[in-house]
Amino acid sequence: MSSFKIAALAGDGIGPEVMREAIKVLRVVEKKFSLTFHITEAPVGWAGIDAAGKALPDATLALCRESDSILFGSVGLPDRDPTIPKEQRPERAALLRIRKEFGLFANLRPVKLPKALSYACPLRPERQGDGLDMLVVRELTGGMYFGQPKKTEDIGNGVQRAIDTMVYTTPEIERIAHVAFQAARLRRKKLTSIDKANVLENGILWRETVTRIGKEYPDVALEHMFVDNGAMQLMLKPTQFDVMLCENMFGDILSDEAAALAGSLGMLPSASLGATSGGQTFGFYEPAGGTAPDIAGKNLANPIAQILSVALMLRYSFKLNAAADAIDGAVALAIDQGFRTGDIYNPAETTAKKVGTTQMGDAIAAGI
Ligand code: IPM
Ligand code: MG
Repeated sequence: MSSFKIAALAGDGIGPEVMREAIKVLRVVEKKFSLTFHITEAPVGWAGIDAAGKALPDATLALCRESDSILFGSVGLPDRDPTIPKEQRPERAALLRIRKEFGLFANLRPVKLPKALSYACPLRPERQGDGLDMLVVRELTGGMYFGQPKKTEDIGNGVQRAIDTMVYTTPEIERIAHVAFQAARLRRKKLTSIDKANVLENGILWRETVTRIGKEYPDVALEHMFVDNGAMQLMLKPTQFDVMLCENMFGDILSDEAAALAGSLGMLPSASLGATSGGQTFGFYEPAGGTAPDIAGKNLANPIAQILSVALMLRYSFKLNAAADAIDGAVALAIDQGFRTGDIYNPAETTAKKVGTTQMGDAIAAGI
């Protein structure tokens, strides 16, 4: 198959301008590799509320259902309208809804710090080794985000009680463990599984289940780490990690911590994958960063995370490895050539060229 349907949902804030660069790159890839991409754009987030009264308009959801994958920008503008109830806000009504709706249980968050951007990392150079390169595999449809009961209730005398429930079944842990072990196999063959087995029932089940699945992957070195220690080790010796496997909430927290090591969220893509059926993996691809409303519409945002998300889409959903490699290579080339958006600009680098969103997109498109 060389024809693919892509739903492009740019969303809010910097979403539209970085999406524009991603589509620019997709069009170049399309020509160069003789592919056909049917790209349809649709509103989501506050843009969805403005266009159709809903963070995830029905037409946008229908488009996603008939597409081969979703290329997502970002949603949410904290100060936009506090009167909209939390269930209808973009985070829950669009992002969490899509995750659940499409069964996107496996969230892959690669964290890379190229050697050339060493200055952007908050850690001292001797802690960065030859540059950082790790992958956070986060379970995305279970745990405290979705467990029931989930509510806030009055329990009398003006006292309220809020309840979130952390719940995992063995099949949920098994399937994400398989994803993580398989990813480790393609990398440096080390898996660190994160849990809180010293306190939580969920942690005990997590550790037992991951250990059992690990027997099917004798070539991958498995270690277990408590989440608090994991947070500390990320600061002390991040180079020890290859693949880090986490449940939903721990993965949310640790993936941001790991991302901070890469210097800028503007560089990090992510993939959220559902089950593979008939050789097809439906996926949702988005930058790790948010809507960055402070710089939106100013041609300042770094489009690299969005463009690398395209590469992940080509790799995981479309199995177009050569095209994905071409994008990764073009991004690396643009960095080597000194192109820097503001977030990764260092005035001390004499060869650096400070550029805006569109110029960075142009440089990467040219590199393909
Ligand atoms: C993320 C985000 C989301 C999450 C929010 C926006 C709901 O922080 O993708 O990491 O917590 O999963
Ligand atoms: Mg998060």
